[in-house]
Formats: sequence, structure tokens, C-alpha cells
Amino acid sequence: SRTVRRGDDGVVTVGGLRVTDLAEEFGTPAYVLDEADFRARCRAWSDAFGADADVFYAGKAFLSRAVVRWLTEEGLNLDVCSGGELATALSAGMPAERIAFHGNNKTPGEIRRAVEAGVGRIVLDSFQEIARVAHVARSLGRRQRVQIRVTVGVEAHTHEFIATAHEDQKFGIALAGGQAAEAVRRVLGLDSLELVGIHSHIGSQIFDMAGFEVAARRVVSLLAAVRDEHGVELPEIDLGGGLGIAYTPDDDPREPHEIAKALGEIVTRECEAAGLATPRISVEPGRAIVGPTAFTLYEVGTVKALEGLRTYVSVDGGMSDNIRTALYDAEYSVSLVSRASDAAPVLCRVVGKHCESGDIVVKDAFLPADLAPGDLIAVPATGAYCRSMASNYNHALRPPVVAVSDGAARVVVRRETEEDLLRLDVG
Ligand code: LLP
Repeated sequence: SRTVRRGDDGVVTVGGLRVTDLAEEFGTPAYVLDEADFRARCRAWSDAFGADADVFYAGKAFLSRAVVRWLTEEGLNLDVCSGGELATALSAGMPAERIAFHGNNKTPGEIRRAVEAGVGRIVLDSFQEIARVAHVARSLGRRQRVQIRVTVGVEAHTHEFIATAHEDQKFGIALAGGQAAEAVRRVLGLDSLELVGIHSHIGSQIFDMAGFEVAARRVVSLLAAVRDEHGVELPEIDLGGGLGIAYTPDDDPREPHEIAKALGEIVTRECEAAGLATPRISVEPGRAIVGPTAFTLYEVGTVKALEGLRTYVSVDGGMSDNIRTALYDAEYSVSLVSRASDAAPVLCRVVGKHCESGDIVVKDAFLPADLAPGDLIAVPATGAYCRSMASNYNHALRPPVVAVSDGAARVVVRRETEEDLLRLDVG
């Protein structure tokens, strides 16, 4: 995060607060989130895209009521993908018209709540869902604004599990074979749906703009085909999220203004060529906003030097608070943050306390040779998809999210307790 510094005594501070004090007050492991950085990133995205575009924060990256309030205050919109995320957004006062509802299998109950609440967009993902949303809207006497999510058929260069625009995966309706054109025909034929645009999301943790450009071109060609067939110019295109962040110094992310410029240019050019008015563009960054704003603070429990191999550093969390290393082979960095050390760096693997050997937080990292139990280490860039994908594996208690702002820290999501766990167990 932007306000992290190392003091003269070697103790790292965030927003002026010493991590040693944070650990004492809130315990470890803990996610420490820099609110000023979060807000600055929201503003960077909305300034870059300007008044003619909309930024929807992707709540799946990390959502809490505090986050919803920050987004509301910073003028961002919100993408939700479940009833739970919708409930969180509404309970913290996000105006429903600023919410887009996603998902490849929204339940009838979720659809009803979304339509009743008056969400601004429902993003339709299948032919069955077109019928379901139309039915719910009709039964409630509403005309629901919708977009159709299309699969543009590009290979985004990212991990297979988080690439979403090639044909052989579960999301969206294929542009190929006339499927998306058929979906448009159906939606336009339903009075209870108002088709406002086309949506594409090509994947996540992407650095190369080429995939977005191909996606934008193909979406615009669908808009042109819709105009030719129906005489209707759809006013919006949403190009999804997926912009990568730096997890290690080797990663070189694009900045919001570069992304806005590249997308704006390509959409404008393609629309001009097709004789279409430029539609309103929207994007859905999740990771790029919240990812860099938080780090996970762990306490070292054991240090095991394996002769000729590496040193295993066990911390008081693990795959229950960061599944990304095990699931995607994700890379992270780590540093000693509670003191200075002149000891030589040694090759370490930071592992958790769970009962399996794949429980790795940081695969390869250099930490000082004198690292010892009681030291605090921090893993940066854990704001996205860590707390939101956290689990209770081995009945771990999910860590709190502590927000730091104006030199003060407060819990925005509290640590789970054994009582919380046992409350669910009603057998
Ligand atoms: N919009 C849609 C429709 C999405 O499906 C996603 C992410 C986003 C926006 C936001 O993408 P972002 O800007 O955060 O990359 N758990 C994985 C990432 C899965 C992303 C799923 N969809 C991870 O930890 O890398």
C-alpha cells in the first residue's frame, strides 16, 4: 500500500501506525487495509475513465460494509455476484441503481431480490436466465435493465482457472455460431427486459491490453450487427475487470489511465468504422483497486532449516487466509516487518499451520537467517481474493480486516471466534 514505510528501528508502519502495535491490539494473522490507498485507487479509476464511463468495483475481490460506504462516497458503482454480496451492498446503503448483478447461475430467489431492490443492471448469462429474469420482472410489474454477457473467444494469458473468454468454459453466451445474436433477439422480444448493452469479461490478473482490444472489437461488431438487424443502437458496453497488479517486483501492471485510453480509443475507432455512436463504456476492476491496499500480518511460529533445501517458516495462518498460492500457483513476496536485521538472506518457504503440505503462502522468498519465533512478517498485495476466499479449513478462525486511516486503526471485519464456528453446528 502507498503509506507503508520502514522506520529507523526497522519496524514497518502503515499510515503512521507500527505493525508491532497493530499485532498487539488486533492479533495475528490479520489483513491490514489502507483506507486512503483504497479511496485513492477508486479515484484514479473514476478520473481515468471520466464522466462518459462507469467504474463498477467487483465486490468478489473483497466486500464489507465499510468498503461499500467508501465506494458510495467515492462515486463508484458495484458489481455483485451473489445474494450475499447484494445484501451486503444494500445493507450499507449502496443505491440499487448503481449495482450490477452477475453470475452464471443466479437462483430464482436472488433474481427476485435483485429486481425488487431495483438493481441497475442484471447481466444475463444464459438463455434460461433470459427467460427467468423476464418472468420475475413481469410478475413484479417491472421493466428490468439488462446486459448480455458474451464470450468473445480470446485466450487471455493468465491461469486457466481465471481465464473466462475462451469458448470452452461456463460463462456467457458465445458470439460464435450466432448464439449471442439469438440472445439479443430474445431479449428484444421481451417487454419486461430493457436491453442496454453487451458485457464481456476475459479473465483476471492480465497485463497485456491485446485481449481487451480484441474483446472490444468483437463486442462492437455485435453492436453493429444488432443495429443492422433490429435498427437499435445499444447504448452500453462493459469490458469487465481483470487488470493485473504487482504481486512481485517482476510484475508490471498497467495504470488506470493507460487502460482507459486504450479502451476508449479502440471502442471509438471501431464504432466510427461501423457508423455507430460511441457507447458508454464500463469496467469492473476488483483486484486492481483492493489488491494492493492490504497486506497480511503473520507471526512466525517455527523456523525449520532443511539442510541443502530451504528453510520452512511456519506462520499462524495459511491456506485458510490465502488460498491463491495453492490454487493458482500465485506468487507473493514477504518481509520481516517487526525489526531490522543484518543477517544474510536465506531461501525460505512461508507455510501455514494446516494439515497438508500444499499449505504454502509464499513459495520462494528470501528472509534473514536470524528469523525467529515471535517475529512478524507481512505478505503484501493480499487485499483481493484472500479474505473473500478465506475458509474455515481445520476449523481455522478467519482473520479480521483492520482498516488504517488518518493514523487510526479500526476493525471493519472482526476475527471469527470459536463461538461463531460452533453457532453453525446445530447437530
Ligand atoms: N467482472 C466479472 C464479471 C468477473 O467475473 C470478475 C472476476 C471481475 C469483474 C473482477 O476481476 P478482477 O479485476 O478482480 O481481476 N479468485 C481469482 C480471481 C477470480 C476472478 C473472477 N471474476 C484470484 O484470486 O485470482
